[in-house]
Amino acid sequence: MPTSPSGARWFAACALVAVVATVATGLARTPPATPATGISSVYDANCASCHGKDGRGDGPAAGLLDPAPRDFTRGVYKFRSTSSGSLPGDDDLVRVISAGLPGTSMPAWKSRLTGAQIGALVSYVKTFSPRFAKERPTPITMAPPVAASAGGIDKGRKVYSDLACGACHGDTGSRSGAVAAALEDERGRAIRAADLTQPWMFRGGATAADIYIRVKTGIDGTPMPAFADTAKDADLWNLANYVASLGRKPTWKMNADELKAQYERDRTEAAANPGARGRYLVATLGCAHCHSPVDADGREMPGLTFAGGQKFRLAVWGDVVAANLTSDNETGIGRLSDDDLKRAFTRGIKRDETRMLPFPMGWPAFASLSDPDQNAIVAYLRTIPPVTNVIPAPVRLNIAAYLSAKFQMLILGRDYPLVIFAGNAGSAGNGTGRAPAAGR
Ligand code: HEC
Ligand code: HEC
Ligand code: HEC
Repeated sequence: MPTSPSGARWFAACALVAVVATVATGLARTPPATPATGISSVYDANCASCHGKDGRGDGPAAGLLDPAPRDFTRGVYKFRSTSSGSLPGDDDLVRVISAGLPGTSMPAWKSRLTGAQIGALVSYVKTFSPRFAKERPTPITMAPPVAASAGGIDKGRKVYSDLACGACHGDTGSRSGAVAAALEDERGRAIRAADLTQPWMFRGGATAADIYIRVKTGIDGTPMPAFADTAKDADLWNLANYVASLGRKPTWKMNADELKAQYERDRTEAAANPGARGRYLVATLGCAHCHSPVDADGREMPGLTFAGGQKFRLAVWGDVVAANLTSDNETGIGRLSDDDLKRAFTRGIKRDETRMLPFPMGWPAFASLSDPDQNAIVAYLRTIPPVTNVIPAPVRLNIAAYLSAKFQMLILGRDYPLVIFAGNAGSAGNGTGRAPAAGR
């Protein structure tokens, strides 16, 4: 029986650790200097774990990441100094790769790769989309900056309201009270408007000039529109100065009273938006990492996100298959009450009163989730569109496999073997659940 190299430690480590490890291995392997011809190996070592070997945004870590890593084959880029719908310039790509994207898993590479390597990666990333061979980026012209002043910021406040930024960002920029709350990106994934009171999270930079460019060119592939044709340059500068003025103090600079008030606001916000809170918790706790099957190359299987079907062999206990967490009434969580669900992921008891092992799913750790957070997770899971995928019940090991595992553990002193299978072991097809998955 093939065994996973990480063995027992895997049980203790949560899914997130796996991603960090994947990325860290990539970093450790970074060669000091590489000729342009070797750039594919620099990409494979540093970028493929998230963006996928073929640039499709489907690397082994992708299922865990929110926002998802860019699919380079589509040629759609968010943070450009070029007009809406246009390709990014090389400078834009150099900036993103060097500085990273705050608030997302996209790292800053400038301290780890040389300028030459980053330049070569820009060319390499462009080869994934045919658009770069056919089209040219169309840079925007920037009007001379308007310095921030009290009067200008007042004008900017009016532009903010005239252009209805508050529909998505909320009247005060904190998203609170935004009417357009259920936003999606071009691939149908849920997306949130930025919290404009947290400028350190802006991915394209937080200076007035950065904000001016962002509002003028929009964020392609997301609902954030481009305002180049809607607003005059002077208005856009005043608006940019106004947005820059919305930034609040970050929590790490607050005193105890300010922190208390901030946490109270966060609590009120979470209670008003349980679905958004639940989505955040499900993303950070890595539920999708186990509850979405991957193929033998570690790629997420299309259409099966949250549909379960990933099979684990836990010597000496047997085989378990991750449950279907989509809202399907027959095969997903549609058949479970809220209490059934909470009992399963916090106490490891299924509706038929059978008990789950405390691994691979670390329900003992989920037991400490507060009631509002448990309810928020349930609220979010109920919004996941149904996928029919019948999940087989756990199976105990046969006597030969049991003895072999005992022998390895007790006589050879090995960590107990864990195998993660590739493919979907459920009824929706796309795999037999037989071959062990690579790299997970
Ligand atoms: C840990 C995961 C991770 C790794 C490793 C990673 N990226 Fe990213 N990358 C992301 C995510 C997530 C996004 C999308 C963020 C968003 O949508 O705002 C992204 C976006 C990008 C973009 C698109 C920027 C835009 O304006 O749309 C480029 C280009 C990029 N990455 C290049 C790279 C390169 C080159 C490497 C390797 C040197 C790399 N990334 C490594 C996660 C990663
Ligand atoms: C239809 C909804 C919508 C409207 C209207 C809208 N935005 Fe956005 N905005 C978004 C979304 C969604 C994002 C986050 C995109 C992402 O996650 O990639 C965003 C992101 C941003 C960012 C963060 C940029 C960064 O670098 O990370 C700024 C700044 C911003 N918007 C300002 C504005 C301003 C100013 C207006 C009005 C002129 C406006 N937005 C109107 C949806 C909207
Ligand atoms: C490390 C892998 C892993 C992670 C992470 C994980 N699960 Fe699971 N989960 C499983 C496996 C495997 C099973 C099936 C166990 C069994 O049948 O004995 C399961 C079963 C369940 C069940 C039982 C459903 C039923 O049919 O009764 C629920 C509910 C559940 N998981 C929810 C979650 C939620 C919510 C999260 C995130 C907070 C999560 N899981 C994270 C692996 C995981």
